[in-house]
Amino acid sequence: MNAPKCYHPFQVPLHWLVVLLVVAAFVMGKSMSGLPNDANKLAPLALHMGVGIFTLVVIVTFHHTHETPKPEHVTAGNAFFDWVGKAVHYALYLLVFLTAVSGMSLSMQAGLVPIVFGGSGSPLPADFFDFTARMLHGFIVPACIAACF
Ligand code: HEM
Repeated sequence: MNAPKCYHPFQVPLHWLVVLLVVAAFVMGKSMSGLPNDANKLAPLALHMGVGIFTLVVIVTFHHTHETPKPEHVTAGNAFFDWVGKAVHYALYLLVFLTAVSGMSLSMQAGLVPIVFGGSGSPLPADFFDFTARMLHGFIVPACIAACF
């Protein structure tokens, strides 16, 4: 079957939506990670977690639109650079996926959903770094940025 000339109408906006959401989640994560774990952190946490979960939903939807035929990849005129370009894109998607999944694991380990979204009134954990998933979440994000350059 011949490759189409354009992407599926949803693919381009979904791609840029993912970029926007990741940047937003990153800025929110960085700006709240220095705050003390008290009641004032609930709103920024809710926003960050909400945006992070939505990012995951968009990535999964985007992955499904990938099953439709795509145009040929743009070539740099060099097989190695073409391969690097493709590999970096896939690595980025994998890293963003893992960032969101590690954030969700952290929220499960720390029992955040009832505190942040359910108004349980329980205190936040004293230090998120007591949880393994916090290390992973903090480690994957810089790896993600490194893959951009
Ligand atoms: C693409 C999605 C995401 C990005 C880019 C992202 C980014 C970040 C960043 C940059 C930090 C601060 C890291 C540091 O300073 O070491 C952070 C912390 C955090 N993130 Fe995410 N995150 C994402 C998704 C999620 C999700 C889905 C959840 C939970 C459902 C989540 C929960 C948290 C929590 C609980 C913290 C710890 C805050 C603290 O230490 O005070 N994140 N995130």
